[in-house]
Amino acid sequence: MKEKVERGQFYTVEDYWLTDRVLKFIKDSGEKTIYDPFAGTGEIFSALREKGYSSFFGLDVDEELGWEINDSLVNIPKKEGIIVTNPPYLAKQSASRKGLNLDYFKGTTYDDLYLIAIERVLEAGNKSVLIVPESFINSNFKDKDRLSSITIIEENPFVDTECPVCVLSFDGRKKGFSEIGIYKGENYLLNLEELEKMRLTPKRSVKIKFNDIDGWLALRAVDSTDPKRKISFSFREELDYDFNKRLKVSSRHMTLIDIKVDEELREAFIEKANKRLEEIREKSNDVLLTPFKGNRKDGVRRRRLDFKTARAILEETYREVLK
Ligand SMILES: C[S@@+](CC[C@H](N)C(=O)[O-])C[C@H]1O[C@@H](n2cnc3c(N)ncnc32)[C@H](O)[C@@H]1O
Repeated sequence: MKEKVERGQFYTVEDYWLTDRVLKFIKDSGEKTIYDPFAGTGEIFSALREKGYSSFFGLDVDEELGWEINDSLVNIPKKEGIIVTNPPYLAKQSASRKGLNLDYFKGTTYDDLYLIAIERVLEAGNKSVLIVPESFINSNFKDKDRLSSITIIEENPFVDTECPVCVLSFDGRKKGFSEIGIYKGENYLLNLEELEKMRLTPKRSVKIKFNDIDGWLALRAVDSTDPKRKISFSFREELDYDFNKRLKVSSRHMTLIDIKVDEELREAFIEKANKRLEEIREKSNDVLLTPFKGNRKDGVRRRRLDFKTARAILEETYREVLK
């Protein structure tokens, strides 16, 4: 199991990732060979064989898989073809907690193996398609301007793990963010420039304390599987949750917040904060919020509101209510 996690050996068994648009991007590249530098059990090749491809080239570190051996997190050899892959995912924090090898993280600011893998793929110079965690969208990856599009996949393509994913199509050409579309399946949502403009940064102008057991304001920060119980601010008494027993300094899903608002203004404050949150969700098609594993019962991806964005919403609301 340790090796499976360390090598990110979770295979892309279902081909939900191969939407018509992604397939068109692969075909439009004009390349005849599909090149997977993290080939695993060859699931990417199987999906593309069904679409008429017959020339494949795979690499992997695991000798048992039968491909040419290569450490593709260090270097991907330049070859003919379009790179189509699902690289290993492993957060540095999780690797460190589990006592796994941290060598790949030396000398990089990236905190997950999949980000290092994308960098190596771009260095190889080919057009490429990568299946990666959807959290890429809110990551610090520096070459987002070489993307052609991002496609969010709501269905789970794995059988032994559940990680919200998206498909990155890189044509390698540097361009303005307004030219890079974000899609959900086949549907266009918005472009990367519009998304970046919506990103909220707290000004730290108001004193706000999260995970404070004396806080009057509660935040359900994760969508529940029941579509009616979405992320929202409320009075603490309104949530059926034993904060006294369960609130910790590390809590990220349910929290109590201390912010100085007079009692008679609190109801209006909550209403306005929730309205602003809904507006952000609607305008960004939810993409600005962190994806959370497992979908809601209606098939829509669950989301988490990170405390940085929550803080920015509360600051805005504070200025509006108390002006
Ligand atoms: C997430 S799996 C994906 C496999 C396949 N592309 C798919 O989609 O089913 C990642 C694969 O990368 C391989 N791998 C992990 N680290 C590697 C490295 N440093 N160099 C090459 N392959 C590596 C693993 O052995 C595993 O087969």
